Amino acid sequence: MSKLWGGRFTKKTDQLVEEYTASIMFDKELAEEDIEGSLAHVTMLGKQGILPAEDVETIKAGLQRVLERVKAGDIEFTIGDEDIHMNIEKALIDDVGSVGGKLHTGRSRNDQVATDMHLWLRKRVVEFVDMLYKLQSALIEQAKANADTILPGYTHLQRAQPILFAHHMMAYVSMFGRDIERLQDSYKRINVLPLGAGALAGTTFPIDRHFVASQLKFDRVYENSLDAVSDRDFILEFLSHASIIMMHLSRLSEELIMWSSTEFNFVELDDAFCTGSSIMPQKKNPDVPELVRGKTGRVYGNLMGLLTVLKSLPLAYNKDMQEDKEGMFDTVKTMQGALQLFAPMVATMKVNKDRMRQAVNQDFSNATDIADFLVGKGMPFRQAHEVIGKTVLYCIQQNKYLLDLTLDEFKQFSELFDDRIYDVLQPEQVVNARNVYGGTAKPQVLEAIARAESAAEATAAWVIEYTERSN
Ligand code: ARG
Repeated sequence: MSKLWGGRFTKKTDQLVEEYTASIMFDKELAEEDIEGSLAHVTMLGKQGILPAEDVETIKAGLQRVLERVKAGDIEFTIGDEDIHMNIEKALIDDVGSVGGKLHTGRSRNDQVATDMHLWLRKRVVEFVDMLYKLQSALIEQAKANADTILPGYTHLQRAQPILFAHHMMAYVSMFGRDIERLQDSYKRINVLPLGAGALAGTTFPIDRHFVASQLKFDRVYENSLDAVSDRDFILEFLSHASIIMMHLSRLSEELIMWSSTEFNFVELDDAFCTGSSIMPQKKNPDVPELVRGKTGRVYGNLMGLLTVLKSLPLAYNKDMQEDKEGMFDTVKTMQGALQLFAPMVATMKVNKDRMRQAVNQDFSNATDIADFLVGKGMPFRQAHEVIGKTVLYCIQQNKYLLDLTLDEFKQFSELFDDRIYDVLQPEQVVNARNVYGGTAKPQVLEAIARAESAAEATAAWVIEYTERSN
């Protein structure tokens, strides 16, 4: 059978052109959404009296059969039919005969493809919120199991002040919480219907766009037909949110890789998430976080790719826009892989509490606290800073830590020191002294965990509600 658009042509398409311009190899991913959109469209054509009821019934029954075949994987898509829209239409016409040709009344592939993308992406966004929720839950569990585990906190990757391991885990919970909010917010702009924009200007048929929107559970319709077919902001937004999520995952990856090294030895990843070396029998490599860190690059690349495709594109549809798909599919697949592995990897990670404690005992991360002690005795902070700097230098020269010094040694640096300094310097005391909202003191961290748990409950409820709305 000839091309669906073959009328104006006198020659066959060059074979290489056909291969070069086709998108069916990747947009077959949109098959179910394409049929979903067509079912709503043809229902509306019937309601508006644009097509007779019996044609509508025939087309709907045909589309249902095509959908079953798509699900069963028993349709052979062909490059000759270029893209998913024409492959499905062809399959419909093969099934119901020429009446199938009425489906495309009042519609263009330009508003059709945009509709498919909106339908497809809104489902993925809900799935990603769910995956982030699961990762947050794993982090919260680790936090609860480590509400007394103290490790050195770092700035400049130098030991700075001791913190609870729970507090460190909860920092990531906050980061992924923002990711969840961003995805939830983007849903508003994804859940808008382009169909009815036609090729670019609208259509001469008396269609009802709002009816189609409600059939497809869209909250709104695009206000402007040119914008409806030209807009790919919703994909860019998703790709940029995905880039930030991957950046967060790669920061956590980096810490897990570092913490798994012999030098740190703070955590041990479960064997199930590591691989060995083909030459060095002793190796256990943290491949999963390494690859997540590495794959962050391609996710950024997909964002840059689409930004560049859209840069300077005139309104409305241009074939360039077909390039919006592979990067989006690749980002979705890459991030699904990363998030699927991360939640169980974090959940099964062994936290080496003793080793963390040893690290805390062998550092100067309690130095700020003796400075604060002197401030409490009336010394200006700047001067206290200088005094403690000298005390630390003395310790380094003597190969001692602050807790090893005698009171006489302390008093060489300031007469204000007294016995209580030994309590002030205890890691628990140092941690619990930071008892401000959002700080690392245990009561604050327990409250942060409680707040995060109720936010997570709200997220879980959102996922249930929006899964329903998106399917
Ligand atoms: N395969 C095309 C795409 O993905 C569908 C829209 C084609 N529209 C057109 N006028 N050629 O962008």
